[in-house]
Amino acid sequence: MIGAPVTGEWIDIGPVTQISPGNARTLPVQGGEEIAIFHTMDNQFYALVNKCPHKHGPLSQGIVHGTVVTCPLHSWNISLKTGEAQGDDKGCVPTIPVRVDAGRIYLLREALVTARAPEKAA
Ligand code: FES
Repeated sequence: MIGAPVTGEWIDIGPVTQISPGNARTLPVQGGEEIAIFHTMDNQFYALVNKCPHKHGPLSQGIVHGTVVTCPLHSWNISLKTGEAQGDDKGCVPTIPVRVDAGRIYLLREALVTARAPEKAA
């Protein structure tokens, strides 16, 4: 969810019911990066580029706990709010502003098309 007002064009990507709590789905973006949209157990929605900042593992296949996803490849923990790796790990994946309105999920178009994969960690 967004913490500050964000203006721009919002893209309707479908009903909130398409993602059960604790799960994620992916959204391909033409000319951009695949996006992972997460539904947390407390009914919040977040979107990140679907590439872990470590070695580009598919975050959408990770385990969601609280507002963190654990990457399925080497278990880095990535904040769904900020995209930052947690603990001693260093790296950040771009986040996409999400809005939920009347049971539908919206993503900010500009962020969708400009988000780029993070550099892989050394
Ligand atoms: S690719 Fe995600 S932890 Fe290594």
